Amino acid sequence: MNNFSFHNPTQILFGKGTIPQIGEEIARRGEKKVLLLAGSGSIKQNGVYDQTVQSLEAAGIARVECWGVQANPVLSKVREAIDLCRAEGVDAVLAVGGGSVLDSAKAVACGFYLNDVWAAYEKTEAITKALPLYTILTLSATGSEMNMFSVLTKPEEHKKWAIGHPSLYPVLSIVDPAVQTSLPWRQTVCGGVDSLSHIMEFYFIGKPTDTTVAVNTAVSRTIIEAVDQLQREPGDYDSRASLAWGSTLALNGISGCGLNFGEWSTHQLEHAVSAHHPDVAHAEGLAVLFPAWIEYCEAANPDTFAHWAQAVWDSNGVADGIDAFRDRLRQWEAPVSLADLGVKREEIPAIADTAMLTQPLGSLRPLSREDVVNILEIAANAS
Ligand code: NZQ
Ligand code: ZN
Repeated sequence: MNNFSFHNPTQILFGKGTIPQIGEEIARRGEKKVLLLAGSGSIKQNGVYDQTVQSLEAAGIARVECWGVQANPVLSKVREAIDLCRAEGVDAVLAVGGGSVLDSAKAVACGFYLNDVWAAYEKTEAITKALPLYTILTLSATGSEMNMFSVLTKPEEHKKWAIGHPSLYPVLSIVDPAVQTSLPWRQTVCGGVDSLSHIMEFYFIGKPTDTTVAVNTAVSRTIIEAVDQLQREPGDYDSRASLAWGSTLALNGISGCGLNFGEWSTHQLEHAVSAHHPDVAHAEGLAVLFPAWIEYCEAANPDTFAHWAQAVWDSNGVADGIDAFRDRLRQWEAPVSLADLGVKREEIPAIADTAMLTQPLGSLRPLSREDVVNILEIAANAS
């Protein structure tokens, strides 16, 4: 096992009925006024908004609200929210929603202190500090509730970039799996696939005997079983809870201990696809690209790829493991080819060019532009 450093400062309040604690938790840390950042309105339909504002008001926390964060969140909304924070003099940011809202809140929290928030994503201005960040998660997928990463899109330049900084760990995140019962089936699947993908970005770096590989095997199987059960019974609380906590564990540092910060090239390829197709959900892009990446790269660490096929998918050999993975994606009604995403074969060169802008690309198997094109071709040919 490789050396590693693990530290995660985020407090998690997990479980049914935990949202009404938000006001008291913010108040006891001395914050008096927050920016409440939200998406397009699902939190008004499922009762999360009412629970949140009642709790804030009971604890005497003032708020200013900013709505309209979209899936694959964009820079312009973040700039609008930063201006609002400065004009209103808020002490903290409260994100209420899925990963897009949480990631935008992280951008706002650090952008508050930056000359140009996009420069942080371009790596031309350094993040030094951020406003305290609180989150109420309504979609378990990204792990953003307990990590220091944010992903943002500048659509006019086809750029979808990530930042990571210790100041971006949320102070506190509330995860009530019960409120995820309102998710459409497609988003539940997205949560499962994104979480499995985060684990896979680390998994193949390791050896079959590593503790973290064993943990990642168990979390993967639990996520798969939870999604299967939710397909049969969407209201099953225990499966929602298993998926939710599995999703957090998939990208809060635990899944990467001893695995050298992971691989991440499939995520970089997906971000290039979404940068050209903002309508493609992050996890749906991953569903198409991950089997293709595995097929292309398995020779880089054959024992661990074979172990994954057997331990996660009960399959004999990597090819059978990939088949089992794609079968499950089809069963879950997820896309399996670029055509399913609405991405045309002619777009592959432009997507490859965008992917090559983020370097390094690949650690287990460094990828050239030709490799990227080959992986995208496998994804185009899948059915
Ligand atoms: O707009 P709202 O009303 O919030 O509706 C959302 C949105 O339409 C809806 N939704 C969320 N919770 C719901 C709900 N609908 C009904 N009931 C609920 N309880 O779901 C839709 C998708 O939400 P979104 O936040 O976009 O999804 P997700 O959580 O998958 O976030 C995806 C974004 O996170 C980035 C992705 O690239 C993408 O931009 N990622 C962030 C990472 C991180 N910070 O560590 C890592 C990931 O790999 C990923 O790159
Ligand atoms: Zn992801």
